[in-house]
Amino acid sequence: MLLLLSRQVSLSFVKQVIPRSPVLFSKPASLNLRTFKFKVKFSTVSANATIQNIITMPERRPFVRLPTDVYPVNYGLCLKPDLIDFTFEGKLDARIEVVQGTNQIVMNCADIDIITASFAPEGGEEISATGFNYQNEDEKVTLSFPSALQKGSGSLKIDFVGELNDKMKGFYRSKYASASGEMRYAAVTQFEATDARRAFPCWDEPAIKATFDISLIVPKDRVALSNMNVIDRKPYPEDDSLVEVKFATTPIMSTYLVAFVIGEYDFVESQSSDGIMVRVYTPVGKAEQGKFALEVATKTLPFYKDYFNVPYPLPKIDLIAIADFAAGAMENWGLVTYRETALLIDPKNSCSSSRQWVALVVGHELAHQWFGNLVTMEWWTHLWLNEGFASWIEYLCVDHCFPEYDIWTQFVSADYTRALDLDALDNSHPIEVNVGHPSEVDEIFDAISYSKGASVIRMLHNYIGDEDFRKGMNAYLLKFQHKNASTEDLWDCLEQASGKPIAAVMNSWTKQMGFPIIVVDQEQQGEDRVLKISQKKFCASGPHNGEDCPSWMVPISICSSEDPACTKMKVLLDQPETTVTVPNISPEQWVKINPGTVGFYRIQYSSAMLESLLPGVRDLTLLPVDRLGLQNDLFSLARAGMISTVEVLKLMEAFVNEPNYTVWSDLSCNLGVLSSLLSHTDYHEDIQEFIRDLFTPIGLKLGWDSKPGEGHLDALLRGLVLGKLGKAGHKPTLEEARRRFKDHVEGKQILSADLRSPVYLTVLKHGDSTTLDTMFKLHKQADMQEEKNRIERVLGAISAPDLIQRVLTFALSEEVRPQDTVSVIGGVAGSSKHGRKAAWKFVKDNWEELHNRYQGGFLISRLIKLTVDGFAVDKMAAEVKSFFESHHAPAAERTVQQCCENILLNAAWLKRDAEDIHLYFLQRKAPPV
Ligand code: BES
Ligand code: ZN
Repeated sequence: MLLLLSRQVSLSFVKQVIPRSPVLFSKPASLNLRTFKFKVKFSTVSANATIQNIITMPERRPFVRLPTDVYPVNYGLCLKPDLIDFTFEGKLDARIEVVQGTNQIVMNCADIDIITASFAPEGGEEISATGFNYQNEDEKVTLSFPSALQKGSGSLKIDFVGELNDKMKGFYRSKYASASGEMRYAAVTQFEATDARRAFPCWDEPAIKATFDISLIVPKDRVALSNMNVIDRKPYPEDDSLVEVKFATTPIMSTYLVAFVIGEYDFVESQSSDGIMVRVYTPVGKAEQGKFALEVATKTLPFYKDYFNVPYPLPKIDLIAIADFAAGAMENWGLVTYRETALLIDPKNSCSSSRQWVALVVGHELAHQWFGNLVTMEWWTHLWLNEGFASWIEYLCVDHCFPEYDIWTQFVSADYTRALDLDALDNSHPIEVNVGHPSEVDEIFDAISYSKGASVIRMLHNYIGDEDFRKGMNAYLLKFQHKNASTEDLWDCLEQASGKPIAAVMNSWTKQMGFPIIVVDQEQQGEDRVLKISQKKFCASGPHNGEDCPSWMVPISICSSEDPACTKMKVLLDQPETTVTVPNISPEQWVKINPGTVGFYRIQYSSAMLESLLPGVRDLTLLPVDRLGLQNDLFSLARAGMISTVEVLKLMEAFVNEPNYTVWSDLSCNLGVLSSLLSHTDYHEDIQEFIRDLFTPIGLKLGWDSKPGEGHLDALLRGLVLGKLGKAGHKPTLEEARRRFKDHVEGKQILSADLRSPVYLTVLKHGDSTTLDTMFKLHKQADMQEEKNRIERVLGAISAPDLIQRVLTFALSEEVRPQDTVSVIGGVAGSSKHGRKAAWKFVKDNWEELHNRYQGGFLISRLIKLTVDGFAVDKMAAEVKSFFESHHAPAAERTVQQCCENILLNAAWLKRDAEDIHLYFLQRKAPPV
C-alpha cells in the first residue's frame, strides 16, 4: 500500500530543509534556430521600413529536451489533496527502464518539493537518492544516486508535496459556492502544455508515453474522477473522513493528457450507440444543464468512430464543467474539462450562439481523443497537427449534428479570415515552428496553429476529396496509434491514399509563413476564357515585390456564373504565374476564382473581372460564402493600401439586400474595425450613420420578436443586427431596447436569451451610472456563468470616463472569474478611443497582478492583443514596445510584436485613406446635384 506523508509535514518546513539549487544549463548558440530563420528569410519581406525598424525578434530562451537514458513505462501515482490548506501530498512509484548505466535521473519538476527518492532495480536492492538538484528555470530536477543505476528495469519511488495553486495550471484549486453560499474549492488539473510537472515529477514531453495507475485520497463526500473508470474505492485507514479511489490502468499516453478532478458535482449520463458510457458533470443542482452537451457527445462519438474507422479506446468518457478554467476546454483522455460556458446549456437562459459554441467545443475535444490522444504529436512543433485538425473537424462534426447551423460558412468568417489577417503580418510565424522552452510552447496556441492550421486542412481535404482523405486518415491513425507522429507522417499517409503530391504541396503552406495573393486577369478568346494567374506574397502592408519572393503550391479552382456552386476547373499553381484556358465561357458570363472560399489566399481581380462579379453580390447569385470572401478580400486589400477604402464602403452598400447571417457578421466585424479606426478622427459619427443606414432595412425586416418557423441563424442574425443598430445609436432601436430592458429588470417581461446581449450593449452604450449599477446588480444575481460573461463582455460599452474606470476596477474584483478579467478589460479597450487609452493605462498600472495571475500563460497574450491592437498612432507602437521591454511576458513576445505592427499599419491606413473616407461620407449626405 502506498504510504502518504502525514498532514503535519507542512510545505514551509519542507522548503527549509531542501533548498533548491539551480543548475543552469548553458545554451549552444546553434539552438536558437527560430530567431535565425525569421531574420534571414523574411527580413526583406516588409514594404514598410518603419515596421521593420521597430520590430526585432528577441532572443529565444535556452532549452534542451530531457535525456533519453532513462524512460518511464508505468507511473503508479497516488495523490492526496488538502482542500482546506491548498496543499497536496504525492507518492510516485514508477516502473522505469534504464537504457544506459547512469547515476543521475533527470525529470521535469516545477513548484514541487521532493521529500525522498529511491531506485530499486528489478530484484535488487533499493538505492536512495542523495541529492535533488532543481533547475528551476528549466523546470527540471536531477536526482543523484551514490552508485550507478545499471541498464534494465527498476522502480523509482518519489515522495513529494506541492501547493494546490490558484493559477489555473498544474494541480490547482477552483472556487465555487455551495448551495448555502459557502465558498468551497475543487482540486482540478490542467497539464497541457507543460504543467503535469507541477503535479508530480515526470518525463513531461509528449513523446515519452507511459501507462498510468492513478489513486486519489479524497474526502468521502467528494466526487473523484480521472482518465479511467474507478476500479476500487475503500476507506483510508489513517483518516475515516477520507477514501482511497483507485482508477483502472490507462493505455500508454502522454503526460499532458493526464487529469484528475476532486469536487462536488452532479451528472447526467447516457450510452453512445457504440457502447461508451458518457457522463456530463455539472455544478451541484445543475445536472439538467448538461443535457445538451450529453446529446452532442453521444452523437459525436459514433460519428468520429465512423469517420476515422477506429473505435474510441476507453470504456468511458466524462465531460466536466470547471468554474476556474483558463482555456475553453481541454481534451484529457477520458476526462475532458471545460469552462462552464463551453459545456452548460440552460434551455431558457442560454442563447443560440452558446449552443453552437458548446457543440463546436465538444466536437473539438472529442476529436482530440483520436487525433492527439491516440496518435500524439512527436513534439510541440507539430502542435498545429492537433489543434489545426481538431479545429477543422469540429466543423465537420457540427455540420453532421446540426446542418441548420450552416457552420461551414461560419468557419470562413471565424477561422479562415482571422488566420489570413494574422498571417499577413511580418511577425507571423510558420505553422510548423521550432519551439523549446515552455514559454515558446505557450506562445503557439494561437490563430496560426488553430485557424490557419484548420484552413489549410480544409484546403487539403478539398484538394484530395473526402474519400481518399478518410482513407489516408485511417491509415495514419492505425499506423501511429499509441505512438507519436509528425507532420510528415500524415502527409505520407495522405499521399499514399490519394496518389497526389501532398508533402510538396503542404510543405509550402506549413513550413513558410504567410500566403499568396493571386492576381487574375482575363481575355476572351472565341468560346474560351483565358485567365492569366500569378502569385506573390501578400503582406498587410501591401504585396511583396522583391526578388526573393516565396511561392506556394496553390490548388486553384474556378467557377462561372453558369453554375456558381460548381467547380468548372481545377489547377495546381506551382510556379509564379501561369495561363489557364477555361473552355466554353460566353463573353457575358463572369468567372470566379476560389468558389467556396476554400483556398488559403487572397485574390486581386482585374477591374473588369471585379466589375463583372459585383452584380452577383447585389442579386445574390454569388454563393453566400463567396459574397463574404469577396468582401473580406477587398477589405484587406484596402487595409494594405492596394485599393481605396472608399471602394470597399461602396461595395458594402451593395449588401443591403443580404439575407445571410454569416455574411452580415463578417461585414459587421469589418465595419467595427473601420469604426474603431475612425474613432481617431473627427468624423467617427459619420461611420455610425453609415452603419445605421446599412443595417436599418434588415433590422426592420427582422423586427424584435422571433416569428414562427424561424431557426438558429435567424436568431443569430437578429441579435447581430439589433446590437449593431443599438451601438451605432439608431434611435428606434435604442428606445425599444430601453423599454425592454426596463421590463426585464422589473421582472415584467424577461428578455429572451438571444436578445440580452444586444439590449445590454445598447442600453450601456447610451447609459449612465444608474444603468451601470443595474448591470452590476444583474451580474451579481445571475446564477449562470453564461449570463455573467454576457454582461462582463458588454460593460466596456459604457461611455463616461468615470464609469469606464469603475468597469476596469470591477474587472479585477472578486466578482469576476480570473479567466474572464481579460474579456472585461478587452471590452473596455474595444469600445471607444477613450476606453482603449483607459484600458491600456489600467493594464500598465496593474501589470504585476495581471502577469502574476496568469503566470505568463496564453491569457496574457489575449489581454495584450485586446488592449493595444486598435491603437492607430505611430508613437503608441513605440510606447507598447518599450513597456514590454521592461515588463517581460515571454509567452507574449510575438503577440507584442504583432500588435506593434498592427498599430503602425492602422496609423498608415488612417493617414492614407482618412481624407477620402471623409469626403465620401460628406458626398453621401449631400450628393452632388
Ligand atoms: N488543447 C486545447 C486546450 C489548451 C489550450 C491547452 C491552450 C493549453 C493551452 C483544447 O483542445 C482547445 O483547443 N481548446 C480551445 C477550444 C476549442 C473549441 C478551439 C480553447 O481552449 O480555446
Ligand atoms: Zn484543441
